[in-house]
Amino acid sequence: MTSVAGGPVRAQPPVENEPVQAEPTGQARPPTPTGEPDGTGHPALRGLPAVWLRANCPCAGCRDPGSGQRLVTITDLPAEVTVTGVRAADATVEVVFGPDGHRAVFPAAWLARYGDPAGGDRTGPGRGGRAGTEQDDDRTEDAKRLWAAADLGGEPPQGWWPRYLADPAHRRSCLSAVLALGVIVLHDVPCEPGAVLAVARSLGYVRETNYGKLFDVRAERAPANLAFTRLPIAPHTDNPYRDPVPTVQLLHCLRGAPGGGESTFTDGFQAAAVLRSQDPAAFDCLTTTPVTFAYSDAGTELRATGPMIGLDPRGRIRQIRLNGRSLTPIRLPAAQARSFYAAYRAFAELAASPEAMVTALLAPGDCAIFDNTRVLHGRTGFTDAAAAHRGGTHNQSTGQRHLQGCYADLDGLASAAAVLARSDGGHPGHGGHPGRDGRDGRAGS
Ligand code: FE2
Repeated sequence: MTSVAGGPVRAQPPVENEPVQAEPTGQARPPTPTGEPDGTGHPALRGLPAVWLRANCPCAGCRDPGSGQRLVTITDLPAEVTVTGVRAADATVEVVFGPDGHRAVFPAAWLARYGDPAGGDRTGPGRGGRAGTEQDDDRTEDAKRLWAAADLGGEPPQGWWPRYLADPAHRRSCLSAVLALGVIVLHDVPCEPGAVLAVARSLGYVRETNYGKLFDVRAERAPANLAFTRLPIAPHTDNPYRDPVPTVQLLHCLRGAPGGGESTFTDGFQAAAVLRSQDPAAFDCLTTTPVTFAYSDAGTELRATGPMIGLDPRGRIRQIRLNGRSLTPIRLPAAQARSFYAAYRAFAELAASPEAMVTALLAPGDCAIFDNTRVLHGRTGFTDAAAAHRGGTHNQSTGQRHLQGCYADLDGLASAAAVLARSDGGHPGHGGHPGRDGRDGRAGS
């Protein structure tokens, strides 16, 4: 991958100064009493390997002072890096490396954060409950606050759009709710066509798809998608036939329905965690069986493949794909197919159980924002005044209930929350390098 910042990568960082300690440069020290073979036994370095320290050197030769981006690549570093000198002061730790005498000055607190085996403070914006002790991915179950319906009082968390616009603290708490809980409903968004795009742009970037920048959810005469009928829709994630899937979805109510049409939201991570505890074999089946989702219409042919419950490399729940409408026939030996469908059914039943789902009858001006990799959304069936008047059926047109939806992405939303957190002393970012002010910094590229 090339650097966005551009410019040549230096072949070798300059040797800055002489060593700070009377230890010979150009040769590795013997193993220290702490057992570190590369000279990093000094307590201030807390067991961090020499190559780790050198790769994270913050000096101006190793990192561009303006952008904070790394100027040297791993192949630019000496193959055998050692620490030949260490001087710890109150707030800094100066390290001299062999074989070339390169010098780094690290903020002591920054080293402690990474070197402390207990983990230090690595909580990120949106982290909910369990604290991670490893380098963490804020998209996994460990970074979330999992919930059942009772935990939320039966309804999704709420915010208010005018206050969201006027009060950065409220905006941050709304975005943090999406990161930690997966869903929020904002009230008092103007009942104007396209207003959902302003909400999406307030937290990132609109993800345009074959449905356009936004899509209308209302009963149509010839629906290309069952969403555009009055039928009930089971809890699902949107667009699993897309790679990558849109990771945030917004649904803005312009007109409600007189009968039914309640929106439902389920924490898919929680449903998967319950499945894992109740039926580990079913959980294993859904995490290891790739399935293909597909969508086609006159101008579109989409397909994508992945497990219904996606795990990260450490085995933690990270992404749910559940959408019976677009699931293609699986190709498995009969016995495995039976096991798969039993597991799929068990997961779908957990997701649709009253104990799992919170509900909201979206009123005009309400806008739901949710994590489409985690929260399953659905709706009850509904009737519209016009259709009911004429004795219309579920599939008849002239629908009154009218939602407008669009997609955005979690990385932009997390970025918006992290930037807001900078100004009120919260966690400033994700990247992490020992910059001039010790603040985590830009990673780029
Ligand atoms: Fe949907």
